[in-house]
Amino acid sequence: MTTGIQMRHYTGNQAPALRPLLLDVYTEVYADAARTDPFASPDRFAEGIDHWIARPGWTCVIAYDNDQPVGYAYGAPLPPGSRWWGGLLTQVPADVTTETGTRTYALSELMVRTPWRKTGVARQLHNTLLASRSEERATLLVDQTHPKVHALYQSWGWTTLGDLRPRLDDAPLFHAMLLALPPGVGQSGR
Ligand SMILES: CC(C)(COP(=O)(O)OP(=O)(O)OC[C@H]1O[C@@H](n2cnc3c(N)ncnc32)[C@H](O)[C@@H]1OP(=O)(O)O)[C@@H](O)C(=O)NCCC(=O)NCCS
Repeated sequence: MTTGIQMRHYTGNQAPALRPLLLDVYTEVYADAARTDPFASPDRFAEGIDHWIARPGWTCVIAYDNDQPVGYAYGAPLPPGSRWWGGLLTQVPADVTTETGTRTYALSELMVRTPWRKTGVARQLHNTLLASRSEERATLLVDQTHPKVHALYQSWGWTTLGDLRPRLDDAPLFHAMLLALPPGVGQSGR
């Protein structure tokens, strides 16, 4: 089913041109959620995306089926002192959340349009985005009211660090998750 799906890579300088596409796919994928959850509204997403694409090191992979965008994944490295961990509610050793700018890649978004679900595209996007990273680990947040998505990430090797509620209006309670990344290009000294 994934035959013919192309993965294209993008970086921050391409983000302004991509922004309408990213918003359109989001608006479609989160249409049901946005009806009841202000945190999922396209306007909130638009604010979030502007924040993310401005981050140093932002990268994005978009999956295309015959030039039709079917889903995407994006993220960026966490800077030193990142606010990412600010809403962590579970006590963990301090060094677990120490960021250096090169330690952790945050997977901010992963979404696939409904006709392309359960085809392997989501996993392919996830793997493609993370394959070229030089950080030692990745992190993501998954809504605690979406246990099937949490289980999906666990099946892909992610472990749960604890509870996290971002310090943003209407933010839900998330599982903060971590994934060790294999040593890659440029990491031979790690
Ligand atoms: C997450 C996603 C990329 C996974 O795609 P996939 O690997 O093809 O897997 P599925 O779509 O079959 O999702 C796995 C299960 O999670 C459920 N699920 C997926 N997204 C969900 C959501 N936002 N809320 C609640 N349940 C969700 C699916 O219904 C499915 O359950 P089922 O096995 O009973 O049918 C895709 O489901 C998606 O785009 N979801 C909406 C956006 C999203 O929630 N992204 C994750 C943010 S952390």
